[in-house]
Amino acid sequence: MSALTIRPRRLRISAAMRDLVRETHLSVKDFVYPLFVVPGENIRREIPSMPGCYHLSVDKAVETAKELAALGIPAVEIFGLPEYKDEIGSGAWDKKSPVQHAMTAIKKALPDLLLVGDVCLCQYTSHGHCGALKDKYVDNDATLPLLAKVAVSQAEAGADIIAPSDMMDGRVAAIRAALDEHKFSHVTIMSYAVKYASGYYGPFRDAADSAPQFGDRRQYQMDPANIREALKEVALDVQEGADIIMVKPALAYLDVVRQVREVTAQPVAVYNVSGEYAMVKAAAAKGWIEEKRLVLENLTGMKRAGADIIITYHALDAARWI
Ligand code: PBG
Ligand code: ZN
Repeated sequence: MSALTIRPRRLRISAAMRDLVRETHLSVKDFVYPLFVVPGENIRREIPSMPGCYHLSVDKAVETAKELAALGIPAVEIFGLPEYKDEIGSGAWDKKSPVQHAMTAIKKALPDLLLVGDVCLCQYTSHGHCGALKDKYVDNDATLPLLAKVAVSQAEAGADIIAPSDMMDGRVAAIRAALDEHKFSHVTIMSYAVKYASGYYGPFRDAADSAPQFGDRRQYQMDPANIREALKEVALDVQEGADIIMVKPALAYLDVVRQVREVTAQPVAVYNVSGEYAMVKAAAAKGWIEEKRLVLENLTGMKRAGADIIITYHALDAARWI
């Protein structure tokens, strides 16, 4: 007789047994798919650093949104490349900008698909920073009313969820107040509460043409070495009225996701960012890894760490795989 009475391997003996005892289940309902909208018509141009992702004109964005909805993906997050840039990023609240235009068109075609609006100025400022400048420094308080204007204009265009990604202090409160004042008290705020100054945003900045023209974002985005500071940001954003809390990037920060999950009752989102996506795609193109397996493993890790919502460029593929 064996001395071993407890054998964890019993529960791994077959696919059916493993299915029965699995602790974490990925669902298509977890996903938010980001779209990059550009001016023009009939445009579907692959983004070189993000193979499988496209710059889309509004008409093509609507087509992609229909594909997502048919797969059961509940939400899209809209990013835009504007027609013009200026010092304060006024294209961000221009009703004729691609983001607002795409929101109106997608909402009309697919009323049940949730629209998430990324609220930031870096795609719209001539200097590429996420706020208005005072000398060579991003002016926090002068930026707040600008962000509030962007949020209101996106809500008017049909956004269900406003997602500020700028990392200014006090922006959730400013946006909440402006939304409420304009009769958008029902519009949700998903705050990029814990957003690190990360090298993983490189491909996105190419795709969105949003790289800072001088310096970097370390004066407003968080130091990758800090986790107590993450909890401080979460507490502040919840107090200011954030309905959903986001941690970004995902993979190098799953310990942060876990801790955030434990201190807040709000739903927790992670952003599986462009550099994380590009690494997987590049290694897969070389035949060095098995793409499907890696993607599902990464996404499962995010969920196991405590994420309720996963914003990911893999959403279309993953929805077909799970
Ligand atoms: C804009 C914004 C960025 C991302 C989302 N919103 C870039 C940045 O902060 O430089 C990154 C998304 C990605 O890398 O996939 N502030
Ligand atoms: Zn920005």
